[in-house]
Amino acid sequence: MKILAIESSCDETAAAVVEDGRKILSSVVASQVEEHKLYGGVVPEIASRRHCEAINGVVKEALSQAELDLKGIDAIAVTYAPGLIGALLVGVNFAKGLSAASGLPLIPVHHLRSHIASNYIEHKELEPPFLCLVVSGGHSHIVEVKDYTSMKVIGKTRDDAAGEAFDKAARAMGMPYPGGIHLDRAAQDGNPDSFRLPHPRVDGAPYDFSFSGLKTAVINLIHNASQKGNELPVADLSASFRKAVVDSLVENFMKAAQDLGYNKLVLAGGVSANSLLRSRLSEECKNRGWRCYYPPLLLCGDNGAMVGSQAYYEYLAGNVAGTDLNARATMSIE
Ligand code: KG4
Ligand code: ZN
Repeated sequence: MKILAIESSCDETAAAVVEDGRKILSSVVASQVEEHKLYGGVVPEIASRRHCEAINGVVKEALSQAELDLKGIDAIAVTYAPGLIGALLVGVNFAKGLSAASGLPLIPVHHLRSHIASNYIEHKELEPPFLCLVVSGGHSHIVEVKDYTSMKVIGKTRDDAAGEAFDKAARAMGMPYPGGIHLDRAAQDGNPDSFRLPHPRVDGAPYDFSFSGLKTAVINLIHNASQKGNELPVADLSASFRKAVVDSLVENFMKAAQDLGYNKLVLAGGVSANSLLRSRLSEECKNRGWRCYYPPLLLCGDNGAMVGSQAYYEYLAGNVAGTDLNARATMSIE
């Protein structure tokens, strides 16, 4: 089954053709990041307008790279929640139009479910059940993936998402948006033990996260130093911050896996590109004889291929939308 999938939940306009949930026939991503960089973050109004301009070309290119036209496609899939509402609406309406014009079924896909599915493309043998750490710019969840379309959130952030914390700390250090990747790179040359940062825990909720205190601690350190005319060593501060975030993510994730009896662990979302997170998780799993999976770097960020992958399993589960499909800014992954 060949699915044409569309993604426009944030600042990438993306489309892909995916076969049977696991094979990418084409994948096209048009990023708006250079424009949002000017403002230090995503400007929703600009994002919607750029999606409007790009979506037709991106979808055409995805079909052309797959050497198909709509006659060779079996269904249209689209991210419909969660995300920036004006951005989502562009993809949803475009997909509805295509579906109405072609008569092809329309498959609605949850953004975080699609991040998880990016792993199915890379790891052909991976099947639920497993425990997944979904870490993106907007979410930090520990999710029991019981089946392809049956999930339970067992822990989440109480405040900032991990990616958001990375981006805000990086911004305070003068790095461009989105700063997560820059902070990760700067941290490679730093000493993670140079700064003592808080190690946030949520009382009575061992699987939940809290990153805002950590982020504020870094921002305060930078401001205090600059008021005294000092500059802090960016590599050391980045390394200390990255270690604090990754420690918290990995500790809670491993505890949840231990308590719930999972020995198959999966990473998903933009922050799963973080080099320390990948290596720490691999190491912890290796020590316990557990399996661990993460997406290839190309599929960590937002893309259409992961939407096409999850859409296949949504379709098999009977999740097909009508022409009244609407976008939603928030929606539980469950
Ligand atoms: O999943 P994603 O592409 O978009 C959302 O759904 O939010 O995640 C984007 C987030 C950004 O906050 C970005 O800074 C972060 O993922 N990110 C990273 C790295 N690469 C991307 N954070 C830490 N280390 C990285 N290497
Ligand atoms: Zn995302």
